[in-house]
Amino acid sequence: MAGQDTLTVIDNRTGKQYELPIECGAIRTADLRQVKTSPDDAGLIGYDPALTNTATCKSRITFIDGERGILRYRGYAIEELAEKSNYLETAYLIVKGELPDERHLAMWKHNVTLHTMVHENIKKFMDGFRYDAHPMGILVGTIGALSTFYPDANNVQDLESRRLQTRRLIGKLPTLAAFAYRRTLGLPYVYPDNDLSYTENFLSMLFRMTELKYTPNPVLARALEVLFILHADHEQNCSTNALRSVASSQVDPYSAVAAAVAALYGPLHGGANEAVIRMLTQIGSLARIPEFIKKVKAGDGRLMGFGHRVYKNYDPRATIIKKLAYEVFDVTGKNPLIDIALELERIALQDDYFVSRRLYPNVDFYSGIIYQAMSFPVTMFPVLFAIPRTSGWMAQWAESVRDPEQRIARPRQIYIGEGARKYVSIAQRPEPEMREEAVSPEI
Ligand SMILES: CC(C)(COP(=O)(O)OP(=O)(O)OC[C@H]1O[C@@H](n2cnc3c(N)ncnc32)[C@H](O)[C@@H]1OP(=O)(O)O)[C@@H](O)C(=O)NCCC(=O)NCCS
Repeated sequence: MAGQDTLTVIDNRTGKQYELPIECGAIRTADLRQVKTSPDDAGLIGYDPALTNTATCKSRITFIDGERGILRYRGYAIEELAEKSNYLETAYLIVKGELPDERHLAMWKHNVTLHTMVHENIKKFMDGFRYDAHPMGILVGTIGALSTFYPDANNVQDLESRRLQTRRLIGKLPTLAAFAYRRTLGLPYVYPDNDLSYTENFLSMLFRMTELKYTPNPVLARALEVLFILHADHEQNCSTNALRSVASSQVDPYSAVAAAVAALYGPLHGGANEAVIRMLTQIGSLARIPEFIKKVKAGDGRLMGFGHRVYKNYDPRATIIKKLAYEVFDVTGKNPLIDIALELERIALQDDYFVSRRLYPNVDFYSGIIYQAMSFPVTMFPVLFAIPRTSGWMAQWAESVRDPEQRIARPRQIYIGEGARKYVSIAQRPEPEMREEAVSPEI
């Protein structure tokens, strides 16, 4: 059998042997269904909570080699894109598969820029949130609401509609994000300035005050371009998985992206850089780092910004961001938290707890420090992640709806609850103290 692309499985319950084809280094878990102990057995299933070793799609967008710390979009190394490209060009690459020529890049920029405005009703909708609403919560709500403004987006199998929604979402995200930010400060919304680049316009919508025209700092605008490139896609992470799962019902992309933004909101995903800043602030000084590390090793909390499901090596994006931080500090002044972060990293990378678990700094370890130096409040950090990730989500969405192998996502479960039982009328149910133990303590 050696040399064949198959997996031989022997079911020791029955002694039967099965040949499962291996394609692209994977078996299809559906092939396990034939492994049965009797004709009425539903067949073997794979158990993989959190999908740690299950591919849910074939994709041509992003390649990650977590062992070697490699990240590529459509075959191009992240380091090269961060150095030479800009966000909209990279977004084109991610969405369309190839780098654009000059004419196509100009058309793409024009088409995205055309969609930076939002319907005036969106502003009213935003005003309905409480005064202290988290901008990420506002983003989830407003992106979901966009589906009601563009009913044509339901036509997910139509290429022209997909293209239009992609431009709309990439164009509108900075506007929604900036509006959410201005709202939290009680400042009037600033409309897009389409003379500016994607990141310059975003800075203008965030920070313009009484001046007629905002002049963004070129170093900060470039730093945002780089950060946006680094965050544009990251294959099947939690939010992209949420997006693909929701989109598999063929719902419109605004609803699917709202689900992705909701997933990104969580502290283990896009909220991690916010958590890093809180952690560094809480540590407060170099002297308190050893005590903090001791607590983490004892299982009291995590070293935020460290560890990654896929990278078991230095996250290549963290290397780029660490360098970028100093370019930003030249303009903004140094963020003192960088010293605590550097020392934490130095100690952690020498400590057997982190080394043996292969925990390295991830993209979020340094990004928050830059954002803070650029005067972004921590609540805006995940929003700054969501803006560029929109190109990745739209590419993943288009790939999934076009993929003939995809169907509505419907995982299996292993049922471990009660067997069939008879309904008991309320008067005959056990006394409260006896019921206590039976009632699930998690809820
Ligand atoms: C990213 C993350 C969710 C990945 O989690 P995961 O792949 O499920 O890994 P696990 O939670 O199974 O962790 C494996 C081991 O490393 C430990 N570990 C993982 N991340 C850790 C961290 N940041 N600090 C301390 N210990 C950590 C776990 O406690 C576990 O140890 P154990 O085997 O002794 O129980 C996790 O590393 C984490 O919570 N990091 C901090 C949050 C963060 O930075 N998120 C941004 C990701 S881009």
